[in-house]
Amino acid sequence: ILLSGVSEECEPEWCDSEDPLFILYTSGSTGKPKGVLHTIGGYMLYVATTFKLVFDYHPEDVYWCTADIGWITGHSYITYGPLANGATSVLFEGLPTYPDVSRMWEIVDKYQVTKFYTAPTAIRLLMKYGSEPVQKYKRDSLKVLGTVGEPINPEAWQWYYSVVGEKRCPVVDTFWQTETGGHVLTPLPAATPMKPGSATFPFFGVVPAILNESGEELEGPSEGYLVFKQPWPGVMRTVFGNHQRFETTYFEQFPGYYVTGDGCCRDKDGYYWITGRIDDMLNVSGHLLSTAEVESALVEHEAVVEAAVVSRPHPVKGESLYCFVTLTEGVSFSRTLEAQLKKQVREKIGAIATPDFIQNAPGLPKTRSGKIMRRVLRKIARNERDLGDVSTLADSSVIELLFQNHCCGAM
Ligand code: WTA
Repeated sequence: ILLSGVSEECEPEWCDSEDPLFILYTSGSTGKPKGVLHTIGGYMLYVATTFKLVFDYHPEDVYWCTADIGWITGHSYITYGPLANGATSVLFEGLPTYPDVSRMWEIVDKYQVTKFYTAPTAIRLLMKYGSEPVQKYKRDSLKVLGTVGEPINPEAWQWYYSVVGEKRCPVVDTFWQTETGGHVLTPLPAATPMKPGSATFPFFGVVPAILNESGEELEGPSEGYLVFKQPWPGVMRTVFGNHQRFETTYFEQFPGYYVTGDGCCRDKDGYYWITGRIDDMLNVSGHLLSTAEVESALVEHEAVVEAAVVSRPHPVKGESLYCFVTLTEGVSFSRTLEAQLKKQVREKIGAIATPDFIQNAPGLPKTRSGKIMRRVLRKIARNERDLGDVSTLADSSVIELLFQNHCCGAM
């Protein structure tokens, strides 16, 4: 009865190209997540174009991106980009190691996947099991292999290229951010000569520059802050509800440039190499977290008066969270408290932010002006004794204590 009364036509809802499309929250260096707002016209155009050219998409392709659909990679390159091209996609919900570590390659063969897009953390995880689980499957449908989320170490790149792709498939190392909407530095498959670990060159319309501390553009081979000099269609339009924060976060440090927050190297051939975050952010398995965000989740626990979180290298996740906590007078450090704190961070932020190490810190290394010396904490987290210049430290006795309490967990 209901069906008979409605029209078969579904009129589209006409929108303005600058109407909001979605808001995706991403970590902010002050700890409060930012609502990155993308608009309809520019974002859709940009993800459709980058999808088509970076994966060399053809109608007969079967495309598979292993990302979580809730993150930007899933938005741009599972949802909007492929759908705008009418692409045939594999959607997968599950683990690359379950029921066994051949799962990915089994799916590749089953659906004859031609274009495959994943993250360095997944590659490093699978690499640990060697080439045999990969070689159980043919993978002869594969044509292009993509990576995203964090710098890919040349060793993982080589394994991906040689073992997974049998040196037949170009690897597209795509550098981009929630804020950029789509790929901004990337090779074009079979057209750009590759260098393992480099995201190579800018996509059409993207103009990168490398700046030094004083905001001067560096020419030729150089290292510094990666910025962009002009907008492209997919760039975010604002921080939802706080346009001022959009301006201060991305455009204040170096007026006239969009600041990525990443460090970058340019070699003599003009290739760009991302060196990692240079703000107070961490990249755990390709997901960005701010140290401030984790710190505030820790201090919300009544037993914690102060917390400082730094990154410690991790063989699979890239980086792991090493947390120093100073406890309230009278409270003593215990396994139970440690478990409670891990749970608290997990519940406040998400599973990805679960601390790997929590160390009892009777005091934190601070400058005389009270600023926590994170550089020193990073060394302690790595158990490295060469602390560099610590002459600005207010109380150096705390250092020895921190080395004594070091969590000697496996790296
Ligand atoms: C890092 C994910 C090196 C970088 C799409 C960036 C990369 C942050 C690469 C954005 C890559 C992403 N090489 N680093 N190919 N791709 N990154 O917003 O630090 O979750 O700023 O977007 O990931 O993370 P986001």
